[in-house]
Amino acid sequence: MRYDTITEAIGNTPLVRIDPSVHGLGHIDLFAKLEMLNPFGSVKDRPAWSMARPHLQERAGGDGTVVELSSGNTAKALALLAGLHGLRFKSVTNRMRVPEIKELLLLLGAEIEELPGQSECLDPTDTDDPLTRFHQALSGPDSTYLHTDQYFNPRNVEAHATGTGPEIVKDLDGRVPDWFIACVGTAGSSTGVARALREHDPRVRVLGLVADKADFIPGIRTIDEVQQVGLFDPATYDSLASVSSQDAIDGMVTLIRRCGLLSGPTGGAAYQGAVRHLASVDAGLAGTGGRRTAVFIVCDRAESYLSYVRRRRPELLGAARRGHSVTSLTDAEVRAEGRIVEVDDARRWMADGDPRPLVVDLRGPHAYAALHIEGSVNIVDELFEELVRTGLPFSKRTPVLLACPVGEKSLRYAALLTRMGHPDVRSLAGGVVAWRDAGAPLVRE
Ligand SMILES: Cc1ncc(COP(=O)(O)O)c(C=O)c1O
Repeated sequence: MRYDTITEAIGNTPLVRIDPSVHGLGHIDLFAKLEMLNPFGSVKDRPAWSMARPHLQERAGGDGTVVELSSGNTAKALALLAGLHGLRFKSVTNRMRVPEIKELLLLLGAEIEELPGQSECLDPTDTDDPLTRFHQALSGPDSTYLHTDQYFNPRNVEAHATGTGPEIVKDLDGRVPDWFIACVGTAGSSTGVARALREHDPRVRVLGLVADKADFIPGIRTIDEVQQVGLFDPATYDSLASVSSQDAIDGMVTLIRRCGLLSGPTGGAAYQGAVRHLASVDAGLAGTGGRRTAVFIVCDRAESYLSYVRRRRPELLGAARRGHSVTSLTDAEVRAEGRIVEVDDARRWMADGDPRPLVVDLRGPHAYAALHIEGSVNIVDELFEELVRTGLPFSKRTPVLLACPVGEKSLRYAALLTRMGHPDVRSLAGGVVAWRDAGAPLVRE
């Protein structure tokens, strides 16, 4: 295989059968579409090239900066593509949560700007949000940036509708799989592949996977967050299911250790979500002689996620297993043990409590700097989790009010601290967003 430029190596990724003795589905052939084998390492290589191509060709040899709201694989692919064409790349994001990816982007020559988004991802309807304002300015007539606009650009979807989807059909000898399973970030890959498959056979079923509420799987969104994505259309999916970070890591470990696939967390989440969902389909096929085919996407590789795994499953990296962890609580435990306080009650508690609560804001430092509850202290959730194990900066005698963007993460921490014996920890219902919407005062750093 000889190429004149690396972009010619994008696409035509392998479709690999998963050994049935690993997934245990007796009547279903399960295949992995290895998008991680694209040259820049992920499912985003195709849309990045498709979205950037018109800009890059127009400006090649000239001056310019490609810009995208991305903290992950899109940014990685665009940084490489911009460099290849003699242009600069700037990644604008709310918060870079995976340190290896941030360092890799810097190595690739990207400029990173972390803006104080009020929630953790772009909400195009929130005109007060600095991230939203930046996004709007990029689309304005005065913008000098080359904006690829992955959350709204139809080329994101088309790259998969003309590439990934047809390749799957070709590699299945012209047949369409009965099931297609994909994690949802910008919704580009799931929407594009679903479109291509349905053109061949509308009976294909599409399962979209999102992250559990208040959990974090790098590259994909929670069910609330996907509503803010311009390309997301619920009609694309026959069903939407959620997966946890523990599922993602379990699936990743199975793909790595049993299948020889060096998958990252979302590939693991797709595998785990697929097997869970297909188990009942498989049971229904017993004794019928029927067989089905399913395909899921492995989006990227494992190496960039070692700190993500270390934080959640240190025993996999040879360290001691952690005692107390927010991710080990089930949703039922969180509901049973987490205490909630509504905005009005929280304000009374803060004004008249004896003693008054310590207010801890778990959001990122930029969001905190932009607007926060007066008198609150900022301990970003990753650090707070670390402190839960190593020592919190307040005693059990101090009542604590925890606040996060929408009140989900803070509820998990409230449940965890209650379980650890802290007598009075409450979570602000609806988070800082509900506080703001109730007209309660917020201050700027
Ligand atoms: C690791 C990873 N998995 C899955 C996805 C989801 O892909 P899409 O944006 O096509 O929905 C992304 C998107 O950035 C990703 O980076």
